Amino acid sequence: MNQQSPNEPGQIAAFLHEKGWDDVEAAVILGSGLGDFTDRIQQAETIPYDEIPGMHGTSVVGHKGALYRGIVGGKQILAFAGRFHRYEGYTLDQTLLPVRIAGEMGARSIFISNAAGGINLRFSVGDLMLIDDLLNPGSVLFTTSDGREFFRYKPDHWVERAKNVACRLGISIQQGTYLYAQGPSYETPAEIRAFRIMGGDSVGMSTAPELLEALRLGMDPFGISLITNKAAGITKAKLDHSEIKEAAEMRKKDFADLIEGLIEF
Ligand code: HPA
Repeated sequence: MNQQSPNEPGQIAAFLHEKGWDDVEAAVILGSGLGDFTDRIQQAETIPYDEIPGMHGTSVVGHKGALYRGIVGGKQILAFAGRFHRYEGYTLDQTLLPVRIAGEMGARSIFISNAAGGINLRFSVGDLMLIDDLLNPGSVLFTTSDGREFFRYKPDHWVERAKNVACRLGISIQQGTYLYAQGPSYETPAEIRAFRIMGGDSVGMSTAPELLEALRLGMDPFGISLITNKAAGITKAKLDHSEIKEAAEMRKKDFADLIEGLIEF
């Protein structure tokens, strides 16, 4: 896998502009199992990732691997059904490509979703968690080499709007800190106990770098976790990918309603 050339997102945006994909106001990155959000898009147009020069396919089960464009909540949006994870062997640049394309296309708001394990003992499978803070043990992304803080994710305005939308539509939501683990394997029970003491509420292998990159690009990002399983060691159940589909089936309508409400706001 090659390092992304710095102007690749720009070239992809130029390719999309040639197809008449202009005036994008918001973007959504759909986590595993959440691809059905694309059914909400009116006047939808779509291009499989592997037909976009400079873009790669996605191999994770539950990801469609296609880019959509159309109207949601009265606004022109881009939706990425499928993302690229570090644990699949992609470079950090490659994992950040969807965010960078969205930025190049003019999206200001970006909603970044994921399937995640629940660390917080009060969480249940199927909970939707508004990500209000990040934990990223060992990451270089949060600070510069001299230790100064880099881009700070502080989505208070989104949390307030999301609570508003959820209350209006009768959607139950949780709120908490997303802990970024690079994978590829799920965590050990001991790691999860440690992460709980550190203040993590959900754990997953994406989203944190994307949120920070969106901030770096001057966008206004917001992250949402779908809790697809209790994190390692909480129950005796063996963790596997099929849980993601089941949890997503339970909440995909609420998820789409919430995102649509936020886009509309
Ligand atoms: N850990 C890490 N990533 C995940 C999990 C988990 O328990 N569930 C879904 N993605």
